[in-house]
Amino acid sequence: MDMQKCSNQEWLDSVYEKLLVKMKAECGRVGSNIPYTTNKDGMYDDITETRWGKTPDGGAHVGFWTNGFWPGMLWQMYEATGDEEYKTAAVGVEERLDALLKSPESVDHDVGFLFLLSSVAHYRKTGDQEARRRGLMAAATLAARYNLDGKFIRAWNGPRQNKMTEMLGGGDIRGWMIIDCMMNIPLLYWASEELDDPRFAKIAVNHAKTAQQYIVRPDGSCNHIVAFEPDTGEYLTNPGGQGYKQGSSWSRGQSWAVYGFALSYRHTKDESFLNTAKQCAHYCISNMAVCDWLPLVDYRQPAEPVKYDTTAAMCTACGLLEIAQHVDENEARFYTEAAYRILRACDAKFANWDPEKDSIMNGGTFFYHDPDGTNTEVPIIYGDYFFIEAILRLKGKDLFEW
Ligand code: GLY
Repeated sequence: MDMQKCSNQEWLDSVYEKLLVKMKAECGRVGSNIPYTTNKDGMYDDITETRWGKTPDGGAHVGFWTNGFWPGMLWQMYEATGDEEYKTAAVGVEERLDALLKSPESVDHDVGFLFLLSSVAHYRKTGDQEARRRGLMAAATLAARYNLDGKFIRAWNGPRQNKMTEMLGGGDIRGWMIIDCMMNIPLLYWASEELDDPRFAKIAVNHAKTAQQYIVRPDGSCNHIVAFEPDTGEYLTNPGGQGYKQGSSWSRGQSWAVYGFALSYRHTKDESFLNTAKQCAHYCISNMAVCDWLPLVDYRQPAEPVKYDTTAAMCTACGLLEIAQHVDENEARFYTEAAYRILRACDAKFANWDPEKDSIMNGGTFFYHDPDGTNTEVPIIYGDYFFIEAILRLKGKDLFEW
């Protein structure tokens, strides 16, 4: 089949068949290891072994924000196929992540990514009570990061002034919120539903409203970071972040906004969140449409060097499919077609379907200013997570994990 010329449905069916083969082989090799990127042989290592070594007591560091994406992929595949091997491997990772709940300082706001895609997915799929307990503990940890005066969830840990605050524009890290957290707050919506108690969702809504006010710009582009004075909640500034520079538009941040605000709409039915999601989506679509449907790392980066980030593309596609679910069919067609164009363009340029090698979607970039290139246009686990979620959603075989 000519993958460039076939219909969307033919492309989707063909990718789904390849996904079944690739993920079965990958799951057999990776099991309950925690992958992040591939090594020089094109295979996954366990990130807890390769990135930080052991903790002082000989344990593994399991708190990196991406460590939920592999179990998230496994739950998606379990939903689609019913193959128990996926479930066993996902539960194995979740048991490793449990250590984080005994030490609140070992996690930051990304406790949402970590536990939505592991414990909460497990509970949603099977009703497992231990998984529910973990999800609720994680939600309590996230809620506890809420700043009452600034009405935002604190992003990162660390001393008030540190290397990051110096590098990105100073200020006091206790007063920083970031766009990424729009993907963490669904943990709070879930906890409120689960406990039939509005407290958690109120925090999520307040945070999302603050993000609307201080992160999203009138043209639909986004800041990455907002700095508030942590004791009074007074707005200070928008430091730069993982994009090209202060005031530019980091594409993964844009994708967190598209999907994150659409999810806040799903959970609250507040129309303003859907409109913000659309506003950010239109900005992404217009930028990608003039770039062969491939996402630059930053939509306002210099013309050279050309650098892409497929993780932003995959998450944007999922956000567009989420928006499509909440609008009428004529509007939905527009968002779904845009998602197809992004997925197909990235598949054609960046996908690796060899079942003997790990990872599908190459071309992921962690941040724009990468001194040695090791974080630029490489396979990154969350690119694969969002790719799989998008494919299964289009096939009607996904598990809702947010
Ligand atoms: N949440 C961190 C990132 O998007 O790189």
